[in-house]
Amino acid sequence: MLEKLERMDAFFAARLDEYEEHMLRNTEGVAEGYVELAKYVPKKTQTLLDLGCGTGLELEEIFKVCPRAHVTGIDLAQVMLDRLYAKHSDKRIHLICASYLGYDFGAEAYDAAVSFETMHHLSHDEKRSLYRNIFHALKRGGKYIEGDYMAKTQEEEDRLFAENRRIRASQNIADGELYHYDTPCTAENQIKLFLQAGFARAEKVWRKGATTIIVAEKL
Ligand SMILES: C[S@@+](CC[C@H](N)C(=O)[O-])C[C@H]1O[C@@H](n2cnc3c(N)ncnc32)[C@H](O)[C@@H]1O
Repeated sequence: MLEKLERMDAFFAARLDEYEEHMLRNTEGVAEGYVELAKYVPKKTQTLLDLGCGTGLELEEIFKVCPRAHVTGIDLAQVMLDRLYAKHSDKRIHLICASYLGYDFGAEAYDAAVSFETMHHLSHDEKRSLYRNIFHALKRGGKYIEGDYMAKTQEEEDRLFAENRRIRASQNIADGELYHYDTPCTAENQIKLFLQAGFARAEKVWRKGATTIIVAEKL
């Protein structure tokens, strides 16, 4: 039987109460991934963009490294942002409830950008265009650090993308509509997408289970 897909924001809103427990305990590499990702955020970071920030699990580690950074967080689900704000109202945070796809983050505005466990719902084209916007929004010398569920093999990536197309077609979901389904790319494909978006370098720096961190640099 085909899985019934849920709208992206409704999917996360419906799971809010068990969300953090699930991320920290049930997904291999995620709890350690937050700690690892924070190590790649430069200590001197003053302006940070967090895409798909959710309830702010990655920020808990990042604030240990850069407690006074100005953080702009963007997420589709207002209830996730409300939870984040309740935890970090003493911090310098600006939260935007919107899709990061097509969002104008400005030019050369951020020292660093991060995302954790959110990009594995996107197509290659959506990612390339979003990564171009992130590249544009970073200052020269800026870094984008992505922690995400990445596929082990091309076969796994192809199979999940094909399955997503099949389920979306069966539910008449139009292209561009945001529904929850995991379509992870391999780290190798991720690196190609970062380079195509303009980043000078992109390197896989850590992996545990399927949780993988890539650092992309703008020179
Ligand atoms: C698995 S959660 C990760 C949240 C947080 N980064 C963490 O690691 O706990 C994925 C988040 O991405 C958000 N998201 C998914 N697609 C999005 C989009 N197109 N624009 C903004 N946020 C999005 C969801 O609402 C959700 O809060």
